[in-house]
Amino acid sequence: MTHVLFGALLTFGAEPEDFFHEAQGALVIGDDGRILWRGARQDLPEDYRPSPTDDFGDCLILPGFIDAHIHFPQYRMLAAPGKDLLDWLTRFTFPEEARYGDEAYARAAAEKFLDRLFSHGTTSAMVFSSVHQVSADALFDAAQRRHMALVTGKTMMDRDVPASVRDSPEQAAVESEALYRKWHGRDRLRYAVTPRFAVTSSEAQLQVAHDLMQSLPDALLQTHLSESQGELERIRELYPDDADYTAVYDRFWLLGERSLFAHGIHLSDRECRRLSQTDSIVVHCPTSNMFLGSGLMDMAYLSMERRPVRLAIGTDVGGGTSYSMLATLGAAYKVQMLAGNRPTALQLFHLATRRNAEALRLTDEVGSLEPGKWADIVVIDPHATEILASRQELSRSLEDMLFALMILGDDRAIRATYVAGRKVHERRMK
Ligand code: GUN
Ligand code: ZN
Repeated sequence: MTHVLFGALLTFGAEPEDFFHEAQGALVIGDDGRILWRGARQDLPEDYRPSPTDDFGDCLILPGFIDAHIHFPQYRMLAAPGKDLLDWLTRFTFPEEARYGDEAYARAAAEKFLDRLFSHGTTSAMVFSSVHQVSADALFDAAQRRHMALVTGKTMMDRDVPASVRDSPEQAAVESEALYRKWHGRDRLRYAVTPRFAVTSSEAQLQVAHDLMQSLPDALLQTHLSESQGELERIRELYPDDADYTAVYDRFWLLGERSLFAHGIHLSDRECRRLSQTDSIVVHCPTSNMFLGSGLMDMAYLSMERRPVRLAIGTDVGGGTSYSMLATLGAAYKVQMLAGNRPTALQLFHLATRRNAEALRLTDEVGSLEPGKWADIVVIDPHATEILASRQELSRSLEDMLFALMILGDDRAIRATYVAGRKVHERRMK
């Protein structure tokens, strides 16, 4: 049935400055789960006035957060104390991911994982499943039942890893294609070709990734790039003839507008130029970068005007330490301060909604509150905790209110989450 949400609407156009904010707003959702109308409460068209309503007072109604990089089989292994990325992967991550070969385990985990996204206000995500076909299958199935726009793929990894999490180039080709054929374009689901990174994929497997991208229309690609010093050393050992890390992926034609590279911390000017020329996307994962001691990704350096690299933002759970995109934006602010930049809250909220939708190629359906788009929505309470409430007494602008939210907010500030017009999470009030 058509219903109406009342609250403070905030949504972005192509650029952060280009936002729509209506403090006394109304959003009409049709019975097909799509947005019918948005505007000032007082201008609500007569036809919609008899519809049922949810009045969220001065809470913010935003397009649902989009997490551009997260690992499903790491859903419970946050806070594992590795010495660095490679040590963390070997000691904690691969043993945990090995469990996802068990279908029952993967199916139960998928429900918990998606529940967590919803309770943190995240409505879409670009997700690494494990190397096992059944794990991607389980996640697609759970996301379909929730009517989500979700992108995932089975991880490809054929060397330098235990047998329990290893495939082969041939197996990766067959299983990735089977998953694509089963799920890509079904309801709101998309497939991503997912070579873990050039450390754990052989050249033969990177070639398979290329072949898949050539043969599977509209598939995306996700991998990792230039995260830690130990990883860079291993890349130099494995690929001595390539100019740098980006050149390895480039040699297999894996750069492009459908490719998302997590981290991108230690990139040279040459690498940024190639990423920029090819419209590739780098996904900033600030809580992970701090937790694993990987380094400070410099958003201003990547965005330099003469060779701007497209950016997105993700939690990278379980290397990341929070499912919350609010906390992730707060961490991005702190990492950028250490890198000598000072992004605004409006820039960062724009990144987590509109820009991430662009990165996942989902702008036709989500990322902003516009008629025709799916009603994937997060309702945020700027006064959710006592500390937030007292801080907001000092807020004098939208920027100020958002800034306090991203520095002090987390899942406690998520009042409700909607996917395709249906309420999928509501925070119990005290
Ligand atoms: N590089 C390769 N695999 C991973 C992973 O699971 N997490 C992070 N943070 N980096 C990676
Ligand atoms: Zn990752």
